Amino acid sequence: MAQKTLNEIRNTFLKYFEKNDHTIVESSNLVPNNDPTLMFANSGMVQFKNVFTGLEKRDYKRATTSQKCVRAGGKHNDLENVGYTPRHHTFFEMLGNFSFGDYFKEKAIYLAWNLITKDFGLDKNRLYFTVFNEDDEAFNLWKKITGFSDDRIIKIHTSDNFWSMGETGPCGPCSEIFYDHGDHLKGGLPGTKDQDGDRYIEIWNLVFMQFEQVTKDKRINLPKPSVDTGMGLERIAALLQGTHDNYETDHFKKIISSISEELKVKPDKNNLSSFRVIADHLRASSFLLAEGVLPSNEGRGYVLRRIMRRGMRHSHLLGSKKPIFFNIFKTLMDEMSGNYPELKRANSLIKETLRMEEEKFLVLLDRGIKILEEEIKKVDKKLSGEVAFKLYDTYGFPLDLTEDILKNKSLTLDHKKFDSLMKQSKELAKKNWKGSGDKSIEEIWFTIKDKTEPTEFLGYETNTSEGVIKFIIKDNKEANSLSEGEEGYIVLNQTPFYGESGGQLSDTGTIKCGDNNFVVSDVQKKFGDLFIHFGKIKKGKLNINDSVELNIDFERRKSIRAYHSATHLLHESLRRTLGKHVMQKGSLVAPDRLRFDFSHMKSISESELDKINNIVNQIVDNKSEVITRLMTPKQGMEHGALALFGEKYGEEVRVVFMGEEGNKYFSTELCGGTHVRNTSEIGKFKVVSQSAIAAGVRRVEALRDIQLDKYLQEKEKNINLSTQKDEENINNLLNKIKKLGGEVKITSDDKKLVIKELTRKLDQLNIKTVLEDKSKNIVQDFEINKVKVRFQKVSNLSPKDLRKLVDEGKNFLQKGIVVVSAHKDNKVGLAVGITENLTNKYDAVKLAKVGSEIIGGKGGGGRKDFAQSGGNLVNKIDDAFNEIKGLI
Ligand code: ALA
Repeated sequence: MAQKTLNEIRNTFLKYFEKNDHTIVESSNLVPNNDPTLMFANSGMVQFKNVFTGLEKRDYKRATTSQKCVRAGGKHNDLENVGYTPRHHTFFEMLGNFSFGDYFKEKAIYLAWNLITKDFGLDKNRLYFTVFNEDDEAFNLWKKITGFSDDRIIKIHTSDNFWSMGETGPCGPCSEIFYDHGDHLKGGLPGTKDQDGDRYIEIWNLVFMQFEQVTKDKRINLPKPSVDTGMGLERIAALLQGTHDNYETDHFKKIISSISEELKVKPDKNNLSSFRVIADHLRASSFLLAEGVLPSNEGRGYVLRRIMRRGMRHSHLLGSKKPIFFNIFKTLMDEMSGNYPELKRANSLIKETLRMEEEKFLVLLDRGIKILEEEIKKVDKKLSGEVAFKLYDTYGFPLDLTEDILKNKSLTLDHKKFDSLMKQSKELAKKNWKGSGDKSIEEIWFTIKDKTEPTEFLGYETNTSEGVIKFIIKDNKEANSLSEGEEGYIVLNQTPFYGESGGQLSDTGTIKCGDNNFVVSDVQKKFGDLFIHFGKIKKGKLNINDSVELNIDFERRKSIRAYHSATHLLHESLRRTLGKHVMQKGSLVAPDRLRFDFSHMKSISESELDKINNIVNQIVDNKSEVITRLMTPKQGMEHGALALFGEKYGEEVRVVFMGEEGNKYFSTELCGGTHVRNTSEIGKFKVVSQSAIAAGVRRVEALRDIQLDKYLQEKEKNINLSTQKDEENINNLLNKIKKLGGEVKITSDDKKLVIKELTRKLDQLNIKTVLEDKSKNIVQDFEINKVKVRFQKVSNLSPKDLRKLVDEGKNFLQKGIVVVSAHKDNKVGLAVGITENLTNKYDAVKLAKVGSEIIGGKGGGGRKDFAQSGGNLVNKIDDAFNEIKGLI
């Protein structure tokens, strides 16, 4: 019989259990969405965790899966072993069958026995079983079902036969099936001192799930006894293909030969481990990338980066000088995308990220190795801590790599010096840190930063997640809990909440544990990566170490996302319309509007505005995909990314591409914000206002989608209203004429009325034209001593229209001071308005008086919230503004 391939063996397993009334369930993601304590899915049962504990109900009681697993980082970590054994992997597939309170030990054993001896046709004489030493029931069942004698069923006294997912979660005693590969290999039976050899290999683990570990010291019974089993697909495939080495299976052979072709190096016994490492790490990296995990310096991204770089270092060891991973990926994709279509979907992201990471790493490696080799020449035993620290700190050369290279040359490292330099550098960073100035709060964040890891941000991929509360801050002090009605900050290990940055406002939402509910109203980032959630407990109480459910207000985020993407399109559109001198000077991305400040000397004309809006709307209508990549800032710039001047970028940046244009993109920006996946989500877009906010800096405000519709409706309503009024007046006149009974006599009052109406219309028209002409209407918004101030200078407008403008300004600021001047011919009017909520601090009359003296006026009158004066020195208006500024 022809040997089965790995893909066929997976299929045989799933079909066997399907035949036995199990539902085939798809593998869940590697990044668990139901567990805050787990880095990656490490076994088949992870996606069913809550089904075992009774928290979640599914419409089946029996399931079977082939689950993607990564064991690197966390409780089950195999990273360092990979390459040096025939069986270790960071990524593997676990085949399993599950009973949720349906069958238990007997049926589980029976089903397993049947599959391996019949469908898989394993030689019974090579099989052994282990049971947990207290589990007589399992012992007797194995005897009964297999007919084996006692010596083939081995009682194990250690935790090897008690399985748990992590520190907490479902767990229970287990029973393992072993296969004897024959005496040509070294190794002893399980439970003996030689058990770790290659001869007797565990092929299947049957866990009799009975308990839930709730905390470190508390274990309770599951609602119903259940079954969870796990069989490594790569291992069983090896066995069925007549080898004990997973890397000798059809699947791995293909990948290894592809590596060999790419590197033009043949595997032999001296370099075999490097081939294994590359093959394994390529699999783990590709599957993680396919789920949107990207290499970074914290959390999951960091584990991914370690896996990638470990693999890339081995390709360097094999003599490679150029990136190879992205080319080998094709073989993996061809092999596995039948079962895992995500590999195909994320094809370009995976390839590009692999290539870029490897390019970057090779540069780092080359440079570091050169420096290190020079230094090594100078020492005979111990490398100084200074050199290792410089390599690490200045060149980004990882310490473990330095150590590895030293080990090969039988040298050691002065760790003490290295550690003390590391400490010094952290302290220096702390000293140089410029906080917001609120000392008490800044101090506390330093203390917390020293005690914890950065928060992992999950919000690019998900809107909801679980998390563990690490710290609670109440009244600027660390606290153990927060109770109903209390306000404070919460820090978690991970979060989907965006922390305000890059102009984008933070998310809001809830942090819940059962009925206990904390409402998040603001999220800030400290030190760039510590997320602090501010809010108030609406109900109940939250404690440190609580596992909580985090939900952002998704509708709000959706709109923020769209405004952020719109901001990028607007930025590029401004550059294409007004010129390359347009640089972003500031921005606000809110759920209901966007504001964008940029360098530009003149006002934007109507036709330019039309063009700007059209360009943005065109990209929206093109429904183009939005793509995000991680790169070094340099690579980003090479892609033409716009970076913000003066902004400090880390080793790595996100680069956001929008609007395909041939092999380029309309917009390419370095940006850590959240974005739509497709430009069509932005909806209709329009710039609705512009003003000057400082010399050479203009501000535009824009709306999209529903906010824009609403704005346009309002505007139309206002126009209709004034037309209505006109009609009323005219009708009145006509009625009067009718009443006169044919003889049209127009009284002087009527004449006055007509003239008044016409003048009013003319004035209105005049104001409108003046205000729309940005060279005649200069608006500047400032903040002086924390007070919002607006100066508006209008030419060609009669002073009597000042009041209206002051009111508009007050409305806009909500809290602030408005100073408006209007001049026509040789007359200047100056008006000062102060919002009600500031009249206890400022007096409009006083401010207007000072201004009036400068423009050659005589005081003037008014109240605390509004005052007006006049003069005739038009060229002194700016001086008057400056004088008033000095008083605020
Ligand atoms: N969850 C069990 C294991 O991973 C089956 O071995």
